[in-house]
Amino acid sequence: MYTAPRETPQWGAAIRYFEEIERPDIVRRRDSKKQEPEYETVEEALLVHLDPLIRNHLITEVIRPIKSGKEAVVYFCRAHESLECEWAAAKVYRPYESRSFKKDQIYQQGRERGSRPDARTLRALGKKTRRGRLHKFNAWITHEERTLKLLHGAGGDVPAILDRVGPVVLMEYLGDQADPAPVLFGVELERDEAESVYRRLLWNIDLFLKNHRVHADLSAYNILYWNDRAVIIDFPQAVDPRYNDDAFDLLVRDIENLNAYFETYEIDVVDPIGHALSIWRTHVDPLR
Ligand SMILES: Nc1ncnc2c1ncn2[C@@H]1O[C@H](COP(=O)(O)OP(=O)(O)O)[C@@H](O)[C@H]1O
Ligand SMILES: [Mg+2]
Repeated sequence: MYTAPRETPQWGAAIRYFEEIERPDIVRRRDSKKQEPEYETVEEALLVHLDPLIRNHLITEVIRPIKSGKEAVVYFCRAHESLECEWAAAKVYRPYESRSFKKDQIYQQGRERGSRPDARTLRALGKKTRRGRLHKFNAWITHEERTLKLLHGAGGDVPAILDRVGPVVLMEYLGDQADPAPVLFGVELERDEAESVYRRLLWNIDLFLKNHRVHADLSAYNILYWNDRAVIIDFPQAVDPRYNDDAFDLLVRDIENLNAYFETYEIDVVDPIGHALSIWRTHVDPLR
């Protein structure tokens, strides 16, 4: 198996590990003479992950980073004509070495169901080896990809997924050539508008639950507002209420966070526990 030298730069390591998990039969050796290029910023370093998207004719140009978050950097790209849209947003996850999965435990519960890791991976997961961490990293991104697909297909207000290549989720871009859509937190709505946006967001929470998902990090920071429409983003931590014991509490927290933004408009907001109970009884467990 390929073993990384101690001083491997993170960005280079991540891409090789991806190749390794895709083709575990191939033994890769590091070419010690090859010099890795040095990058100034994380935004530049992560660009290497967008090369395959250009080669595969998904995008033709990376225009600029939109936002550099703790988990990923999102880039504004020009879409290839085959995608039948002008722009695309590419969310590039930071290398797994830079993440701690400890705090993700609450979201991971129940995740392995259905994903069928092989015996070697299961052993590795238990031992917290690099292979185990890589499996978790890969599963974390795949979970966002699948959730976006599922909820967009169900008619939810989430970006359409365009593709997934390694650590990159390529999706519909919200915004125009000059500016990306703002997050709802920075937007001031008219009172009537706020009322209808709030109702629509509650409708989305209900639709998500019906499709076995609780967002679990919902707030005015993970909602974009564009063309009078609120679009919910950022799903890797979403949980399945059938398998995750904390899902109900996370649902209540999502509603509380939503209320925190809308309360400033003096509209009638729902009682978080009461509302969560009512939709939970409809979609998850009538006896709760
Ligand atoms: N589809 C999109 N269109 C436009 N901007 C986006 C899109 N997706 C994400 N962004 C921008 O990137 C930021 C980070 O994306 P997000 O999915 O929330 O990742 P993180 O885990 O880093 O919070 C968002 O707050 C938003 O500003
Ligand atoms: Mg976010």
